[in-house]
Amino acid sequence: MIKFANKLRDELTEKENINFSVGDIRNIKFEDNKFDIVYTTRVIINLPTWEDQIQAMDECFRVVKPGGKVIFSEAFYEPLILLNAMRLIKQLPPLVEHDFNRYIKKEKIEKYLTNKGLSFECDEFSSIYYLGSRFLRELVTNPSDYKGYSNPINEIFYEIEKKYSGGGFGIQQAYIIKK
Ligand SMILES: C[S@@+](CC[C@H](N)C(=O)[O-])C[C@H]1O[C@@H](n2cnc3c(N)ncnc32)[C@H](O)[C@@H]1O
Repeated sequence: MIKFANKLRDELTEKENINFSVGDIRNIKFEDNKFDIVYTTRVIINLPTWEDQIQAMDECFRVVKPGGKVIFSEAFYEPLILLNAMRLIKQLPPLVEHDFNRYIKKEKIEKYLTNKGLSFECDEFSSIYYLGSRFLRELVTNPSDYKGYSNPINEIFYEIEKKYSGGGFGIQQAYIIKK
């Protein structure tokens, strides 16, 4: 991924100071208060315990500047439960997270952020997408006719989600936190 990212950077016409490196989010190798923005996408959910997840989030807050932003775009537990409740109404089997994932409980992260005295907002950008692609899709098409994400309903709801957000069904959500 780094090799590919470096290649894309080298192809930019305007040369920017962009660097990529590999590291452990639980022990970030940069000094305190360095960055304007720290952003994760489905990284914290790969850590095995809540303690590891806290360590990772603490590290993100350590390296962001005061007044800077931390964005955790991760997968959450409560929307999974809500989606499965909807699926149950139509006798669809529950969705389960992969063994290597530990979806974050919104209740826990919000308590953690509040205890740290941080103000935050949550962008539920994927709710309509999940409702379409993990529930309605199963009612109007035969999902086994399509491989992976190729069912056209996914694309349709991906487009709709750009206009509407909220609803609580989106497993992928983004916490936007000001330090
Ligand atoms: C689901 S992928 C997401 C990758 C990328 N953010 C994206 O959206 O395409 C999870 C990523 O978490 C990384 N990861 C897992 N444990 C990590 C750790 N302890 N520190 C840093 N990254 C980790 C993996 O290497 C992998 O790239």
